[in-house]
Amino acid sequence: MTIGIIGIGRVGATLGKRWARAGHKVLFGVRNPDDPKVKALLEDAGTNACTERIDEIPRFTSAIVLAVPHAAVAAVIAQMGNLRNNVLVDCTNPISPGLRLSVGHSSSGAEQLAGVVKDIPVVKAFNTMGFETMDNPDFDGMPATIFLCGDHERANELVAGLARDIGFDAVTTGPLKHARYLEPMAMLWIEMAMHGEFGRDMAFRLLRRDAADDA
Ligand SMILES: NC(=O)c1ccc[n+]([C@@H]2O[C@H](COP(=O)([O-])OP(=O)(O)OC[C@H]3O[C@@H](n4cnc5c(N)ncnc54)[C@H](OP(=O)(O)O)[C@@H]3O)[C@@H](O)[C@H]2O)c1
Repeated sequence: MTIGIIGIGRVGATLGKRWARAGHKVLFGVRNPDDPKVKALLEDAGTNACTERIDEIPRFTSAIVLAVPHAAVAAVIAQMGNLRNNVLVDCTNPISPGLRLSVGHSSSGAEQLAGVVKDIPVVKAFNTMGFETMDNPDFDGMPATIFLCGDHERANELVAGLARDIGFDAVTTGPLKHARYLEPMAMLWIEMAMHGEFGRDMAFRLLRRDAADDA
């Protein structure tokens, strides 16, 4: 699959490298192609990765991962224009200065995004863990869980497949409105990992009894 990644910070670079190494074609949408970190990233990601103008990305891709600050989402969506034939993967957390959620309880960043892009499927995913876990989801043989949600079953399956391709357990929690719970879950991760005793090398995992019966 060809995956667009908007943003080459900690999340975008990590996920993009891992998908490129797993055999997907990855187009990184960057603001400044001359930034030295772009060259280093492409060398690290290998031959399946390249850069593309942000506004050109949707023409070539089936999924576009938003790995920018929440405050930049509206700008990059406007820049990309027509998103037809793409699934939007929303990794962002609507965190305002002071580490507070700027949206919540009765809506979420992902639902607001879906309201803007209308019939383009939005899947909330990869927001409830640190980028270190995106790089290595294996905890002593147990993969970390990607909790995802979205209103389009095929889009959810596509994103779950992408998560599994890079070693995650993937759990579809339900419709996109569950993002209003997944975004606060990211706050729980932040509090535990960055302000609590756990450190960033931790991740959430779903346990189910008799899970094999559902397969
Ligand atoms: N860090 C984590 O562990 C983590 C985990 C889960 C979710 N998240 C969420 O994932 C998102 C990205 O986090 P991050 O830690 O990867 O951030 P980051 O390291 O600060 O990287 C942000 C990237 O977004 C790009 N960007 C910013 N504004 C842009 C714009 N207007 N147009 C295009 N690109 C723009 C930046 O471009 P330049 O390279 O040009 O500066 C940079 O590449 C955030 O919403 C965050 O809440 C983060």
